[in-house]
Amino acid sequence: MEHTIALLGFGNVLRAFAELLEQKNPTLEQRYGYRLKVVGISTNSHGRAIDPAGIKLSQALELVRSGEGLDSLDAGWNIQSTPEFIQAVPAEVILEATWLDPTSGQPAIDFVRTALETGKHVVTANKGPVAFAYQSLRDLARQKDLGFLFESTVMDGMPLHSLAREGLLGLEISRIRGILNSTTNAILTRLEEGIAFEKAVAEMQEAGLAEADPSNDVDGWDSAVKIVVLANVFMGGDLRPSDVHREGIRDITLQDAKSALTNGERIKLVCEATQEGGHIHAQVRPLRLPLSDPLANTNYTVCAVSIDTDVLPQVSLIEGPSSPTTTAYGMLVDTLNVLRGRR
Ligand SMILES: NC(=O)c1ccc[n+]([C@@H]2O[C@H](COP(=O)([O-])OP(=O)(O)OC[C@H]3O[C@@H](n4cnc5c(N)ncnc54)[C@H](OP(=O)(O)O)[C@@H]3O)[C@@H](O)[C@H]2O)c1
Repeated sequence: MEHTIALLGFGNVLRAFAELLEQKNPTLEQRYGYRLKVVGISTNSHGRAIDPAGIKLSQALELVRSGEGLDSLDAGWNIQSTPEFIQAVPAEVILEATWLDPTSGQPAIDFVRTALETGKHVVTANKGPVAFAYQSLRDLARQKDLGFLFESTVMDGMPLHSLAREGLLGLEISRIRGILNSTTNAILTRLEEGIAFEKAVAEMQEAGLAEADPSNDVDGWDSAVKIVVLANVFMGGDLRPSDVHREGIRDITLQDAKSALTNGERIKLVCEATQEGGHIHAQVRPLRLPLSDPLANTNYTVCAVSIDTDVLPQVSLIEGPSSPTTTAYGMLVDTLNVLRGRR
């Protein structure tokens, strides 16, 4: 059966999604009976297009790669803004992957709300709506009997949220620990290899893994937003990133990394959320972990999470190398899940 979807944003993640969909649509149809058709794309500076007959993704990719806008693919809808697009586009599911504002989560929160209010399921890779407005968006989705899924917000396409949603039913989660920022993990690995902090940061910037201003990663902001997502969704918390006790990795020296290794330990930027007596605390800080800890065995850009529950003592997931395609995969699975009623 054919289902309609629309894309909010057409950057790294949703361009990778377009390529993945071209590749996977025949398999989805053959195995599960679903075929996904993109009927609209809206961007900030690359225009927007709606075509209920289906947008040719190879053409959209070509246009954006050659620096042109998407307007030539529009079938006469002539929409002027993203909110107007969300209301008008004849799609069952909106896939949201616009910019993250780590201080407010906007305008993505409003995009998600508008989509739900106009009867569309939402799949997002953007941490903003989940870190700043999870409870109200979840409640709105439930009230409207719609899906609101966000697998790719933490650890890209790894099935972390679906594991918690489907596989940890009825358990009490007392602690979540994670290495959730690949850039800082790679910097710490390079320190162990004798590369100084500034040089390691420069390497990450050259590889496109760190921004020109690396503070979002090295000062722990990205990690703080991610542990808030996990605390709020897995533990029922209502934290904001500013509630997280946060220390970054700027003060870690080559000497620190070396002396940890000599003691059979490794320094990691650990995100942690704990639940005790109804109170949830979250922190992000560099810690020395013994090599026996599963979180210590993460080199370079490998991320990992470990969840303590009252029955299963330590549920751990380790992510292999990530890319926009692994993030896009999480969005593809979420899309199939909302369409088959897994909410
Ligand atoms: N990259 C990853 O691997 C990864 C992993 C996990 C989560 N995420 C999250 O996924 C989201 C997208 O990441 P990305 O790497 O694809 O970012 P990106 O390459 O910067 O793309 C962002 C897209 O959003 C569009 N956009 C911005 N404001 C908009 C608006 N008001 N209306 C419509 N479109 C708007 C931009 O339009 P223009 O094309 O006109 O600039 C662009 O197409 C972010 O929230 C990020 O945190 C990314």
